[in-house]
Amino acid sequence: MTSGTSRPLRSADAARSRGPARAPRIGARSGWAWIALSSLAITAFAVVPYLTTSLAELSESGVGVAGTYDGRPAAVQAAFYAHVVAGGIALVAGPFQFWRGLRDRHRSVHRWVGRGYLAAVAIAGVAGLVIAPFGEAGLSGLFGFGTLAVLWLATGWAAYRSIRRGDVASHRAWMMRNFALTYAAVTLRLWLGVLIGAQVLPGGSFDAGAAFANAYAVVPFLAWLPNLVVVEWLIRRRGLPTFRLSPGTETASPLRG
Ligand code: HEM
Repeated sequence: MTSGTSRPLRSADAARSRGPARAPRIGARSGWAWIALSSLAITAFAVVPYLTTSLAELSESGVGVAGTYDGRPAAVQAAFYAHVVAGGIALVAGPFQFWRGLRDRHRSVHRWVGRGYLAAVAIAGVAGLVIAPFGEAGLSGLFGFGTLAVLWLATGWAAYRSIRRGDVASHRAWMMRNFALTYAAVTLRLWLGVLIGAQVLPGGSFDAGAAFANAYAVVPFLAWLPNLVVVEWLIRRRGLPTFRLSPGTETASPLRG
């Protein structure tokens, strides 16, 4: 598995100097705003309840997956909390790393938030691997969330390694892939809504428990596979180093330095 440059990199400056490009900038800004707001909303909606109420109480009210972890060994509960808190930090911090103004004007803020983000991904990723076998989705959760956790850790490591050797273009591409995986926390909940809604539509009797179980069996994969396809397309569109499964070498990019 290699990440190589398949065609010359278009630098951001060159792209800017080519013309007005007003529409894509507005599109990019509203895309960023959507990602930032949806990330904040999911952190508030899915993470905060676990920080304010005990697992036992949340389990009684049927909130989230509290019932799955209430009564588990202390180590599993500790991993669950570590995952939820660190995952929330990564989800809130991630969008700010893609804000060009902040990145260009306050490099040290970008560096420190980036280190915090990657540390949060490392903690949440390892904790995610620990809790994956205990999840509600059984084998689908084990393999779907397990693969997601491994890819999350691997892309975070690749992003860190590339910036340590001064390869800015590869760092950007790996960070885009990594955040596309972090964003699975949002897309998972969107897909759950869509899949449960699709079971309501046909009419007739509706079993909410069965509808949730059906949807939850699929989301461990659906939450992140399409994100990776979309981000790989964005990476190609921006002329950043693309990902290839075939053997090859990493080509020096013009943005190195
Ligand atoms: C991208 C890699 C991630 C992996 C592999 C992962 C894995 C998991 C797993 C296995 C569970 C338990 C599911 C169950 O019991 O059925 C879980 C739950 C949870 N995760 Fe993640 N997760 C990831 C990212 C995130 C992020 C970025 C957040 C930040 C919001 C997050 C927040 C949560 C929360 C709040 C729960 C409890 C679920 C609920 O109450 O509905 N996770 N995660």
